[in-house]
Amino acid sequence: MFGFKLGKDFLIGTGNSAFQSEGAWDRDGKSENIMEHYAREFAGKYAAGYVPGTVDITRRMKPYSEDLPDRGCFFYDHYEAYIEDMKKTGQNTYRFSLSWCRIIPAGVGEVNPKGIEFYNKVINKCLECNITPFVDLYHWDLPQCLMEKGGFLNPEFPQWFEAYAKVCFEAFGDRVKLWSTFNESDIAVTSGYGTNRFPPFREGNREGQLAGHHVLIAHFRAVRLYKSMNLGGKIGAVNCFTSITPARMCQEDIDAAARQTERRFGWWTEPMLEGRYPQRLIRECAYVRDNMPVNYQEDLDRWFIPMDFLGVNYYICNRTQYDPDRPMLSTYVENFYSSPGQQFAPYPPGLLDVLLYIKDRYHNIPVYITENGCALENINDPEKECDDPERITYLREHLRMCARALRAGCNLKGYYYWNDADSYEELDGYRLRFGLTWVDSSTGERRWKKSRHYFSEICKTKMVD
Ligand code: NOJ
Repeated sequence: MFGFKLGKDFLIGTGNSAFQSEGAWDRDGKSENIMEHYAREFAGKYAAGYVPGTVDITRRMKPYSEDLPDRGCFFYDHYEAYIEDMKKTGQNTYRFSLSWCRIIPAGVGEVNPKGIEFYNKVINKCLECNITPFVDLYHWDLPQCLMEKGGFLNPEFPQWFEAYAKVCFEAFGDRVKLWSTFNESDIAVTSGYGTNRFPPFREGNREGQLAGHHVLIAHFRAVRLYKSMNLGGKIGAVNCFTSITPARMCQEDIDAAARQTERRFGWWTEPMLEGRYPQRLIRECAYVRDNMPVNYQEDLDRWFIPMDFLGVNYYICNRTQYDPDRPMLSTYVENFYSSPGQQFAPYPPGLLDVLLYIKDRYHNIPVYITENGCALENINDPEKECDDPERITYLREHLRMCARALRAGCNLKGYYYWNDADSYEELDGYRLRFGLTWVDSSTGERRWKKSRHYFSEICKTKMVD
């Protein structure tokens, strides 16, 4: 009843992704990825096809940042100092992604020894500091040269991905024991290929669902390969889970919330764990049913293999209500917790809802909260930004929910705060800052924020006040 405990084996740490943190975007043989490519193409402008003034509260209603992700938070140059800081923090894990463009610059074929060398150094440094690496193969940064061949839409994509995964498993699998295939497929695929909100800015549900199908097959092929290599670790995927609540007290809205949850979370999680798409969406929504890839179930039957755990990125809640005229027969309405247009309004109880839902719906599969983080505006004032009580409250409230979930029997294995240090936030550049460490985005100077000191106490005690 009293106290919020996380347990001594709980993994707790921070995370970041390659393209957001590394910088050195064109050094040592690395090629360009789609995140860099589109940031450059649309810097300061609305991305292709976007209609300014469109009112849809779940969508981004602003132009692309003028900043480019070329520097990240200078992790490529300062990885040792960053990992030393993690050690001082007392965290026992770090989640990061590998850059496909650094490892295989042409997307397929020749491996770049400098890319392998860099990640070997990062992994070895983590292990030296008693930090368990959690490694994502893909965090949004597809090589641009593969995009030019259709990206996820190319039926060869699963083979390309499997070949890249093989290089990574062979190079790092002796030391990395926690792997994830794809980060937030809902954003990368649905927003990227379906609704024109995210690189590569394409639109159309037929394309979106086909791209997603290829991503799922790529995921299965990597999981199969990993298991066949008997490297002794675990492999999963990272899906985002928005807590969606019904807007009104009626069954229609409860059904609308369930449909949206299945579309955004179940669309990836159900095939990954059970080998089929959410049947209810196919039955109820013509928009989904009429755009299914040819022979989709045959493909799933051929490639399906369950993964070992589920990674969940949790940030916000949405409220939705029944609307027969919208594709998913529902529409989002303003929620109680955000001001209009606010992108990351915290809603800590939603984290508990999400964990309880997964426990019931997915048979208590092991879960890691792979992202959860507090976005504050860059005010170009390090003193003020390092004094961040909002982020401390954010951490306390969400980690209390983790402790409650554990008490309620959820199979929660770990928590990664997003992110380790102020980095490049896709589309928002250096404007939105999540880090526990403040970083000067021009020089790379670093300072601990108060929230990092607070997080450190939680990491060291495995308790929350
Ligand atoms: C989820 C993404 O995985 C990460 O790259 C991003 O920075 C955060 N959301 C915040 O938008």
